[in-house]
Amino acid sequence: MKIIAGRVLSFKKNPFYNLLNDSYHLIDEGGVVINNNIIEDIGEINYLKKKYSTAEVFDYGKSLISAGFIDSHMHYPQTGIIASWGKRLIDWLNEYTFPEEIKFKDSLYARNIASKTLDYLIKNGTTTASSFCTTHPQSVEVFFDEANKREMLVLGGKNCMDRNAPTDLLDTPKKSFDESENLIKKWHNKNRIKYAITPRFAPTSSPDQLEALGHLWKKYPDCLMQTHLSEQKEEIEWVKKLFPQSQSYLDVYEKFSLIGNGAIYGHSIHLSQDDINKISDTNSSVIHCPTSNLFIGSGLFKMRELNESLVKIGLGTDTGGGTSFSMFKTMSEAYKVSQLNKNVIHPIQLHWLATQGSAIALNIDDKVGNLKIGNYADIVAINLTSTGEIKQRYIKSSSFFEQYFPTIIMGDDRAIEAVWINGKLIHSKQML
Ligand code: GUN
Ligand code: ZN
Repeated sequence: MKIIAGRVLSFKKNPFYNLLNDSYHLIDEGGVVINNNIIEDIGEINYLKKKYSTAEVFDYGKSLISAGFIDSHMHYPQTGIIASWGKRLIDWLNEYTFPEEIKFKDSLYARNIASKTLDYLIKNGTTTASSFCTTHPQSVEVFFDEANKREMLVLGGKNCMDRNAPTDLLDTPKKSFDESENLIKKWHNKNRIKYAITPRFAPTSSPDQLEALGHLWKKYPDCLMQTHLSEQKEEIEWVKKLFPQSQSYLDVYEKFSLIGNGAIYGHSIHLSQDDINKISDTNSSVIHCPTSNLFIGSGLFKMRELNESLVKIGLGTDTGGGTSFSMFKTMSEAYKVSQLNKNVIHPIQLHWLATQGSAIALNIDDKVGNLKIGNYADIVAINLTSTGEIKQRYIKSSSFFEQYFPTIIMGDDRAIEAVWINGKLIHSKQML
């Protein structure tokens, strides 16, 4: 048994739907008890120390103890092209992304990037990610294998594309069905791995391929289905030309049964209220990727409207379209995007999006995303005074959220004191 001590933050309810004070629980001198890989107890530290008198105590002082961050939309194969200059979405894909993804035919190259990326995530306090891989099945194999080595809960899937990309990245409807199915059989629910059927986005799939993947999802309804939706205006116009019978971009996915509980739509920016209602009614999820949306110039996510319609919302870095592996940077940009929409997001709501909200959007909230008895011990300790600039603001603050907000807005991996995955200490400032 181990006890992680600090200021323990957990959620009781969704802070977008409930009074802020009713939605969370903060224990200022608290602790989280870990039994093997599971959270056994949570409470006041003095009480826990007496109750579990033989447990080893890891005391993080005034640091915030939270569930690990969940990056619910990213592309590990794009780590090597992060921060590529000067393009909008379609040109950015053609000029930077596709040439890089071709390299993932080579398993050694793919493994190196997978390993590096998972380590970047961990040092940023991210304990779970949902990643797109490339068209090559081996890009999925190495990602899952490296995640397994770190005992991480990750989600991922082979990109399925049979048109509008370089030949070296194309599969066919049958090949994408068969290769995805083989990966599902081998990996889905193995240790903490989950498979996400992954049509990249409507423009790179023929109707036949989308139909095949709709059938595949029916056969394996317990898998997720991740894709992109309504990210950029030019992309939406292109989808209209490619699928002239469809009423909207979302309608394309609906036509091929790629909608419903477990459907995860990255970006989802330019949505009509009809689209939003449909996403909500079908219990599908959207993922907000603010650093990417600003960097590629895609647009402003409709946080207020989506919440008013009770849509499940997660937060993602979308690296390498996104510009940071840090969920602090991602929360910070989400705050600013919402400010531009005249909608102020509270720190507890930002933290929700980066943890429990993402877990709910990915249908993994039964096990991760919150400090709750019975959940996996995926935990992060966050130093709220990690730099001089942040510290001088912190000491002027009186409430907890005033103390945490400077780290959300200005923080990075220097604020990550320690990361526990599956009950094991995997990263610590003291280890460095
Ligand atoms: N749409 C289709 N593929 C991609 C991708 O790799 N990144 C982003 N941001 N949007 C996409
Ligand atoms: Zn993406």
